[in-house]
Amino acid sequence: MPEKLYLNGNYTAVKKAKISVFDRGFMFGDGVYEVIPVYSGKLFRSEGHLARLQYSLDAIDIPNPLTTLQWIEIFSTLIEHNFPSVDSVIYLQITRGTMEKRDHAWPPDMQPNVLVTCTEQVYAKQDSATAGAKAVTLDDTRWSDCHIKTINLLANALLHQEARNQGANEAILIREGFAIEGSQSNLFIVRDDIVITPPKSRHMLGGITREIVLELCQQNKIICSEKNISEDDLHQANEIWLSSATREILPIVTLNQHAVGNGRPGVVWQQIIQLYHEYKFNLIRSPGD
Ligand SMILES: Cc1ncc(COP(=O)(O)O)c(C=O)c1O
Repeated sequence: MPEKLYLNGNYTAVKKAKISVFDRGFMFGDGVYEVIPVYSGKLFRSEGHLARLQYSLDAIDIPNPLTTLQWIEIFSTLIEHNFPSVDSVIYLQITRGTMEKRDHAWPPDMQPNVLVTCTEQVYAKQDSATAGAKAVTLDDTRWSDCHIKTINLLANALLHQEARNQGANEAILIREGFAIEGSQSNLFIVRDDIVITPPKSRHMLGGITREIVLELCQQNKIICSEKNISEDDLHQANEIWLSSATREILPIVTLNQHAVGNGRPGVVWQQIIQLYHEYKFNLIRSPGD
């Protein structure tokens, strides 16, 4: 259990933190968020997460209330207070602010509400003997602006819960015949040794883990292509992976109750997860962020 969080300028005991019920995040889901991994007390790719935060804020016209240095200072203070040497995760959310009364429209001078927490995180130990998850395909019922990392996650949560109800770990979302991403992850398939991931579009979130996977493929001569994935491509894939900050690169071994490939994490996944872990450990050992 973390001891302290950051709320609107103050480091507060978790149990004492309070926010108005007229917060627009509380009433409308009007805000954005980020989830940043912390390995052994060290922030992982925080610059990418802060750049995406700015992108999401710009998209819904909320001013960034803090500078990069101020954000990093808050993250470091919370890590130091709560989990200085183990793995954890920074969650931050910015809402448009607190209304005087409930109203869809907002005045021009709103003060955003800022919350940052640092909670312990156990990252799954991923090796080919233990890894392997189940996914089901579901219709993508989300809105058209999924490139914004909004706290309004009702459709994602309903879809994820439906996958869980069907005994799967994650839903792969299908829009107009194409597989877009997971309810909380990006999608990769492997076909004939080529790694394929859908290109960035307004229908998917540009994941930071996805960026790292693309970089690692390029640096290590693994052929990788950003191309739309039809539902048929998905079903014929030799390997399927889902990527996210907290689940890293998860191999999917069962899709809609059918084995993917030989039903075990594939050889290309074994290569990429090893590269990912090496990259991670090099960053942890390097000085600075
Ligand atoms: C819908 C969706 N797509 C993709 C991702 C992966 O993004 P990242 O790798 O930055 O965690 C997430 C993570 O929360 C997500 O919610």
